[in-house]
Amino acid sequence: MKWSEIDANAKKWTREAGERIRTSFSEELLIHTKTSPDDLVTNIDRETEQFFIEKIREAYPDHQILGEEGFGDKLDKLDGTVWIIDPIDGTTNFIHQQRNFAISVAVYEDGIGKVGLIYDVVHDELYHAKIGEGAYLNDLKLPKLEEVAVEQAIIALNATWITENKRIDPNILAPLVKKVRGTRSYGSAALEMAYVATGRIDAYLTLRLSPWDFAAGLIIVNEVAGKVTTLHGEELNLIGQNSVFVCKPGLHEEISKDYLAKFQKNP
Ligand code: IPD
Ligand code: CA
Ligand code: CA
Repeated sequence: MKWSEIDANAKKWTREAGERIRTSFSEELLIHTKTSPDDLVTNIDRETEQFFIEKIREAYPDHQILGEEGFGDKLDKLDGTVWIIDPIDGTTNFIHQQRNFAISVAVYEDGIGKVGLIYDVVHDELYHAKIGEGAYLNDLKLPKLEEVAVEQAIIALNATWITENKRIDPNILAPLVKKVRGTRSYGSAALEMAYVATGRIDAYLTLRLSPWDFAAGLIIVNEVAGKVTTLHGEELNLIGQNSVFVCKPGLHEEISKDYLAKFQKNP
């Protein structure tokens, strides 16, 4: 009972939050910069996070909340039941395009992902999974992912990682970009993970994400037998920042061995 109720509430609140975001399109947006001119937040990101927090605190006063905009709790471990929320993943797209963004909500218990939701608000597409019960796009059950050769793969990654940057030698990923059938970059980590889960793309990799960016995607991709690790092949840490490598089975091993093996950990 507990988890089916939490799952139903998470879905209800996510769809309600999406409706509020759609309504906001006709209103003036207040845009603020956070750490740099390309790190943006809006009043809608903040109001959406606060909306979830009110609902969760009222229904589940003993649950903890980790939210990007900081209205939840400060957590250094994932004990108990923890909601991990990105109210708008893809804020730059939200501001510039009014599309290609999503709400990401995950519920973990003692570090185990139980419920994951990624809601593409504009397309009214809810990607969702409950541990052990498969993943869905709205009412449609998603099939398990099948292997694909690197030459036939479409991978999502940001052009940053094949130009000079401080996290990875561009010569590591450039040969991969040359080898694959195509690359894409959608600007929302949550949607990029959902796209791997549906098979629209075959892999997604990036050098630094926070738990709210990937917490729901991790649960959804696991349910379709996809593989999610850091670029070094380690399990993701849900309390800190990580590189993230989301992939179809088989392709994960191939890319890890043939391309990522040269990616050394910082001493
Ligand atoms: C960002 C998006 C983007 C990723 C960034 C994230 P935000 O989230 O997921 O695709 O490259 O690292 O911070 O700030 O729009 O919630
Ligand atoms: Ca995000
Ligand atoms: Ca966000």
